Amino acid sequence: MTIPVLTIDGPSGAGKGTVSRAVAKQLGWNYLDSGSIYRSLAIAILEQKIALADVCAITKVAQAMQLKFECGDELVVLLNDVDITAQLVTETVGNTASVIAAYPDVRDALLQKQKDFKKAPGLVADGRDMGTVVFPDAANKVFLTASSEERAKRRYKQLIEKGISANLDGITKEIEARDKRDSERKTAPLIAADDALTIDSSDLPINQVIEAVLNLVR
Ligand code: C5P
Repeated sequence: MTIPVLTIDGPSGAGKGTVSRAVAKQLGWNYLDSGSIYRSLAIAILEQKIALADVCAITKVAQAMQLKFECGDELVVLLNDVDITAQLVTETVGNTASVIAAYPDVRDALLQKQKDFKKAPGLVADGRDMGTVVFPDAANKVFLTASSEERAKRRYKQLIEKGISANLDGITKEIEARDKRDSERKTAPLIAADDALTIDSSDLPINQVIEAVLNLVR
């Protein structure tokens, strides 16, 4: 039996997480938040004080790290049995993730961990290269985007709601720098798959985006 996969790629803050979780819930499918895998590795690297240029050491940590995802109302992530959920959302972790995600060896080390999420009855996979590299044969692919100003506003609101102090100008600059790094890297750059439906969510209420994605799958 083929297991259906829906990929949702796009830049940071485009609403991929919210849309993917809602669609996975509606369909009763599994959910892969691939960014949290790169973020978990970033946390391990920061904790172990490994230099961001030490590709060999980072790859070894990527190969050895044990991740567990507990999916309830909120995603809980355990790194080597320690709950790191609260640390995952910080900008330092996101930026570190984006730096180490540019290394091909690191991406290779994390590939199988992502493919393993493909289980019946189906999978919604959210990230940057889900439709291009990890699940190129997915039946349905979406590229979800929004203007950088809108994305920065959403990220700011998200952090404030979580009680994390944030600065809108700083977030806008960081989002633009991260977009540039993710789009310009040689391996698995942030790019829409040829067969993806592109949705610009800048002026769309999130419910309409969710409906559009559900219609695509149905
Ligand atoms: O999506 P999120 O903001 O959590 O991702 C953090 C970083 O991890 C991204 O900026 C990107 O560099 C990297 N990433 C990636 N490929 C993915 C998911 C995330 O390179 N599939």
